[in-house]
Amino acid sequence: MKERMLMDSISRIRKEHSIEKEELALLLETKDQEVCTYLQKSADEVRKQVYGNQIYMRGLIEFTNYCKNDCYYCGIRCSNKKADRYRLSEEQILSCCQSGYELGFRTFVLQGGEDPYYTDERICDIVSSIRQRYPDCAITLSIGEKSRESYRKMFDAGADRYLLRHETADEAHYRLLHPETMSLENRIRCLYDLKAIGYQVGCGFMVGSPGQTVDTLYEDLQLILDLQPQMVGIGPFIPHQDTPFSDKEGGTLERTLRLLSLIRLLHPHVLLPATTALGTIHPKGRERGIQAGGNVVMPNLSPTDVRKKYMLYDNKICTGDEAAECRFCMQKRMESIGYEVVVDRGDFK
Ligand code: SAM
Ligand code: FES
Repeated sequence: MKERMLMDSISRIRKEHSIEKEELALLLETKDQEVCTYLQKSADEVRKQVYGNQIYMRGLIEFTNYCKNDCYYCGIRCSNKKADRYRLSEEQILSCCQSGYELGFRTFVLQGGEDPYYTDERICDIVSSIRQRYPDCAITLSIGEKSRESYRKMFDAGADRYLLRHETADEAHYRLLHPETMSLENRIRCLYDLKAIGYQVGCGFMVGSPGQTVDTLYEDLQLILDLQPQMVGIGPFIPHQDTPFSDKEGGTLERTLRLLSLIRLLHPHVLLPATTALGTIHPKGRERGIQAGGNVVMPNLSPTDVRKKYMLYDNKICTGDEAAECRFCMQKRMESIGYEVVVDRGDFK
């Protein structure tokens, strides 16, 4: 019986933290409801064993939408002349942190395009100001590819975590998503450098990006097993109207949920967000992401007047809400499914 076999696969993946390509293919394709429920239930149990019913909250500050890169999928790529560009000043960033701190955030995620205006010196100044004012908070950077020396300076200034999705671990697939100026090799080099320096590191990918196959996803999972990152960010690819991928199909809720569950089983301690992109393709996407094994949510702390400008993909949610609204909305959403949002740095256990 195929269902029995798939259930056995799930138990084995959970026990041995490894997966065969054929198992991945079958688990992504199966329409059997019992198998899907079992996968999700297993991931939920594993997350509960490590993190209980606690959900960690990160305050996301999208501080610049300028970018020198031209990734084909991304709404703020440099070729998108329609993007209305903005940068936040250090004072504005600190004021986001202040309201975030009062709302109970103990991790600030500074994310942006690769914006040359923010030299190492400027980033280090911002990081050390936050570090000084909020010694009990984690500072996460997500500002793309840098040299090892730059990463080291930012770490010394007080940054503790770094998010850099690898996007795909397959060379040919990487070429399909990025222009010649970028390389998978450099992206992976960055991740290993960050880890060696001592950052808690997050890699990840978009589910359903153009050209993604079971083979490329298998490579993504192998990279996670190799790198052993503390965080993994995955969310559906959603087309943006002013990019070369405007007419491509987006990733699905179902596939994203299955991959979240598999990542939880393969890497039980991972910090795994239920992303805004997941909330964008389904009204209960983030709740479903948590139920599938996620344990992190990232409400937006950016000032409302810039929210709509950080438009990575069409129809992004929460672009009109105040930080406080997002924070309490998220708490209610998590409580509605039996989880508790905690005031905590939410470090990797
Ligand atoms: N510049 C930094 C970097 O490259 O890591 C951080 C900002 S970048 C916009 C953050 C992430 O957004 C990317 O790693 C990518 O996976 C995701 N993203 C970009 N365009 C997207 C789209 N159309 N749909 C879903 N996610 C997208
Ligand atoms: Fe640079 Fe998307 S192309 S952030």
